[in-house]
Amino acid sequence: MSPEVIVRSGVNSTVRPGAADATGPVPGGPATPTLDVDRTDTGYRSWLKEAVRKVQADANRSADTHLLLFPLPERWGIDLYLKDESTHPTGSLKHRLARSLFLYGLCNGWIRPDRPVIEASSGSTAVSEAYFANLVGVPFIAVMPRTTSAEKCRLIEFHGGQCHFVDDPRTMYQEAAALAERSGGHYMDQFTYAERATDWRGNNNIAESVYSQLRLERHPEPAWIVATAGTGGTSATIARYVHYMQYDTRVCVADPENSCFFEGWRDHDADASSDRGSRIEGIGRPRMEPSFVPGAIDRMMKVPDAASVAAVRALERAIGRKAGGSTGTGLWSALKIVAEMVAEGRTGSVVTLICDPGDRYLDKYYSDAWLEDQGLDMAPYAETLASFLATGRWPE
Ligand SMILES: Cc1ncc(COP(=O)(O)O)c(C=O)c1O
Repeated sequence: MSPEVIVRSGVNSTVRPGAADATGPVPGGPATPTLDVDRTDTGYRSWLKEAVRKVQADANRSADTHLLLFPLPERWGIDLYLKDESTHPTGSLKHRLARSLFLYGLCNGWIRPDRPVIEASSGSTAVSEAYFANLVGVPFIAVMPRTTSAEKCRLIEFHGGQCHFVDDPRTMYQEAAALAERSGGHYMDQFTYAERATDWRGNNNIAESVYSQLRLERHPEPAWIVATAGTGGTSATIARYVHYMQYDTRVCVADPENSCFFEGWRDHDADASSDRGSRIEGIGRPRMEPSFVPGAIDRMMKVPDAASVAAVRALERAIGRKAGGSTGTGLWSALKIVAEMVAEGRTGSVVTLICDPGDRYLDKYYSDAWLEDQGLDMAPYAETLASFLATGRWPE
């Protein structure tokens, strides 16, 4: 028997015979009718199917990112690798996250045709989300600190997104939620959903990709993987995957100044906070973000911002490429771990990430005027790195 279809307020709602708001129970049927509301919206479902297909097809057209070698003296017997996430179509490791967040939001029925997607971001995630919003054809608004680099804002607009600035970075979450409420849109909330939208057991996540690329190396199971934390999602995915696959690799998170992740992790303090925004774009947060999973992390380091800048400058000398400040934060910690291994006479491998390209930050981490303006002196850190790479000893 075909269901009786009642169209209410423009949406196909179907009430089946016996439903409470139909004309009444069928004579001879049970006394209490079965409540049955069918909200199937065939127009929305075909839009959804097409949106998911577009996101999946984009992934299918994309290649994996490279695992590069940072040159170290052969006699050390240690290999340092850089997972180059800057080669994604939107230029950062956030491309993976944005794809996962869009699939999660679409499959949950949260992202709807013509309704804006709104995100609180320090910039990189917003660039990647603007790309996916454009792909599926929904408007996109990025709520960001006013200090976000001009190049990231340009890229968001290039992909058809809008930039909405806040003066106090701590207010961007409420501002994004309020904007979603007012516009009937969806607040993506990367800081809450990054860890659960990403499939940490595999599905070619960043960790699975690293291990498969290391398969033919002399030390295929790294002693350490070093990540940085913005949402905390990348470090959570890597650490969970390592544990799930029963590897002995340990996971270190490098945190910049003006972030509370290090203190919150060290002191087991979920309420840790910081009252200033991070200078290293993309990482370092003023609160313990829900996607940061402290229990999964083995070690953390607090890296001075001037050391992060010295490390990205050293990276350019070593491999001829510029990278963003967060790459320097991770690289500083990875080199410090390599120094420990050299001192202990241990061989093995260490992995860290190139999170995004340096051309987004020419007026920051590559500008001596900016460093001076910020009161940052990278000279002692540059000396530490030069001396370590020449002698194998970490002078700190
Ligand atoms: C440039 C950059 N590096 C590193 C990260 C850290 O990644 P996650 O958010 O997964 O902790 C981010 C996050 O926004 C970022 O933008």
